[in-house]
Amino acid sequence: MISKEPMFGRAAFLFLVISCLGPSLALCVPATLSETGMNQEGVRSYTPQYPLWSDGALKKRGIFLPPGKKIETENPDHWLFPVGTKIWKEFSFPIAGRLRKIETRYMEKISDEEWAFATYLWDESEKETKLASEDGVKSHIQISSAPPVSHDIPSVSDCLRCHKRGGDPVLGFEAIQLSAARDTEAVHFEISPPTDMNLRELIETGKLTHNAPEFKNGSPRIEASSPKARIAAGYLHANCATCHNSQGSSLHTRMDLRHRMTAKTESELPVFAETIGKRTKVFSFPGVPQTLRVDPGSPETSALYGMMVLEGASHMPPIGANIVDKKGIEAIREWILSLKKQ
Ligand code: HEC
Ligand code: HEC
Repeated sequence: MISKEPMFGRAAFLFLVISCLGPSLALCVPATLSETGMNQEGVRSYTPQYPLWSDGALKKRGIFLPPGKKIETENPDHWLFPVGTKIWKEFSFPIAGRLRKIETRYMEKISDEEWAFATYLWDESEKETKLASEDGVKSHIQISSAPPVSHDIPSVSDCLRCHKRGGDPVLGFEAIQLSAARDTEAVHFEISPPTDMNLRELIETGKLTHNAPEFKNGSPRIEASSPKARIAAGYLHANCATCHNSQGSSLHTRMDLRHRMTAKTESELPVFAETIGKRTKVFSFPGVPQTLRVDPGSPETSALYGMMVLEGASHMPPIGANIVDKKGIEAIREWILSLKKQ
């Protein structure tokens, strides 16, 4: 509907909301990235301490919280964001000797129940962007030549496979990821510059409704008995718990790898309790019906490690990367090797 009245405000609004990507979620987003307000006042950078591996992409992230509004943090593990929250994640790859911006992913909370998901593709000059198709773009750009590997732009349904954990679908802007006591040993650790927003600042500036004791005044850490266990838990939280959580897209595996702020000890963390010495539910190695998720001391007979190394349909993670994450695999191997045989 286009209003005939010459009301600038209204016309500008109609112009902005021009793309509705899906029938079920009202996925209405602007046609270009600049119209999302990425450069508006109030957008802050942040850097999760346990990043997602995406074929070695370099990432920059930004968040806009509507002024005067708070994040509801009564449940320390499930933050609820105010309507109007916007989050961006920019992906760059080194291509032909130059770092090139390729895509910027975008999420916006458009009502109490709905989030819009979209991704914008950068042109070669890195000046213009256009909204990607809701079906994504397979082999969008070649990012390595030997062997040849391309970067895929995920479809909106793939966004939703990973961004699902009950409540708001935000994955990397949460207490453990924003801790001021950063895990410098994390796999693919990224430096958080002093201009970044972190948990301590969110608490001190009153942006959270509750300052839970678990937030440790802004510096929580994963409670694990050794650095190897902590690094593995952080890695699995960011890279695998996207689907493997109690409300995630692969909950039929009944394996929760998501970190839990409320866990006081290692044994209360599902990532350890549901894997070490525990049988798999759906997957087994050929001829080994009693496959264990984690076989202490033995990575090769552990499904958690084995499926990251496997090629083909059973490879984990099933989407999100075309280049296997050697450092991630090594961290899981080191952790399993460090566990005492039972
Ligand atoms: C393979 C799983 C996966 C897929 C597929 C995926 N994401 Fe994400 N995304 C993540 C994880 C994990 C994070 C947080 C960690 C990080 O930022 O490195 C994240 C972070 C983000 C963020 C920053 C806010 C947040 O939730 O932390 C945005 C925005 C985003 N993704 C948008 C998208 C969009 C849009 C799509 C689809 C086009 C998509 N993502 C597909 C896993 C995924
Ligand atoms: C995009 C969603 C998604 C992501 C991300 C993901 N998985 Fe999975 N995973 C699945 C699905 C779906 C299955 C079940 C496969 C089936 O039904 O055949 C599965 C099964 C498994 C199983 C077998 C569990 C059992 O008890 O049978 C293991 C182990 C596993 N994944 C490990 C991982 C690891 C490790 C990562 C991260 C490196 C990971 N997954 C990331 C979707 C995902």
